[in-house]
Amino acid sequence: MFVTFEGCEGVGKSTQVKMLRDYLDRTGQPAVYVREPGSTHISEQIRNIIANPENTEMTDITEAMLFAASRAQLVREVIRPALERGELVICDRYVDSSVAYQGYARGMGVERIKQINAPAIDGLLPDVTIFLDLRPSESWRTFKNTDRLEQESADFHDKVYDGYIAEIKGSNGRIIPVKPDFDKKVTAERILEVLREKGAIK
Ligand code: TYD
Repeated sequence: MFVTFEGCEGVGKSTQVKMLRDYLDRTGQPAVYVREPGSTHISEQIRNIIANPENTEMTDITEAMLFAASRAQLVREVIRPALERGELVICDRYVDSSVAYQGYARGMGVERIKQINAPAIDGLLPDVTIFLDLRPSESWRTFKNTDRLEQESADFHDKVYDGYIAEIKGSNGRIIPVKPDFDKKVTAERILEVLREKGAIK
């Protein structure tokens, strides 16, 4: 099964992926863990270009295509082969991030972003997507504000959130919103419950 995590910056997504990993390791359930953009030699190089704050001249379309290029490599080099071997794949961000960040927040248009990503994902959508449902302006955590996208305005990040919310409706139940609790263990339990229900984990 293919499981992805989505959410705005500062909502504790990476912590939750790590807690899920700890649980699966502890209970002897193997999985392949990847993050976007990155997780292949080529995709990590693309990640550096995207994140570099010196790249102020990067156009929206370049950014969108770099995310798609990183994804194309990851799907073919890691995700699809692992799924074909029958393994569980857990990915921190995937195409829904491009839809929310580039499609909605950058205003490039959802259909355009889906078109750019179609050859990258080649029909591969997650079985389950956990969306950590917290509006960034209401988040109790703070951004690191080090990379190019994190430096965007609060308004940009709220648009990302609205984009995700809009996508949930059309996802036929694939994207499942999970409310983060102040207690990260409570959030982790909520996520395990959803993944058990979907048959992704035991
Ligand atoms: P990362 O440091 O991994 O952030 P996070 O911990 O929040 O996942 O950086 C990824 C950044 O790239 C983040 O700001 C979200 C953004 N992004 C897009 O804009 N489009 C995409 O398709 C993906 C995968 C990420």
